[in-house]
Amino acid sequence: MMRRLAALVSTLLLATATFAEVATPDASAGRTTFEAFCVNCHGPLGQGDGPAGRAVLPVPRDFTVGQFKFDADGDGHTGTDDDLFLVIRDGAGPAGGNPLMAAWGHLGDEQVRVLVAYVRSLEGAKAD
Ligand code: HEC
Repeated sequence: MMRRLAALVSTLLLATATFAEVATPDASAGRTTFEAFCVNCHGPLGQGDGPAGRAVLPVPRDFTVGQFKFDADGDGHTGTDDDLFLVIRDGAGPAGGNPLMAAWGHLGDEQVRVLVAYVRSLEGAKAD
């Protein structure tokens, strides 16, 4: 009986793990975090048209264009994954930008990575 139960439990765990992998690729996991912390300025599609975003200068980037400004790691290329990671983790201030783009490092590196993936996934996005 216990053995059968153990087998059942491990099958269920396996099924859940597989489902989670399929259902939450990086970018869609980032969506929840983005909607919680970023849309206010960046807008639902990251076009820089959130209610607070319209009030700040320089305005937040339009992520659907997929062009980024900062070379936060100083390697001579702007908008690499590393640059986006650093700007989100440490804020735009240290990269020479608007300090209103605050640091989000307290969310943890994993969340910051997921946000980078989500921001990238907005390139080419269109409003429904
Ligand atoms: C208070 C408003 C505000 C919030 C909230 C905010 N941002 Fe920003 N963000 C900005 C502004 C303003 C800029 C443009 C900074 C500049 O150009 O100096 C920016 C720029 C960026 C950039 C562009 C970097 C580049 O190199 O072009 C990324 C990526 C970014 N934000 C991600 C995020 C993420 C992810 C969140 C949520 C965790 C977030 N932001 C929350 C205001 C905000």
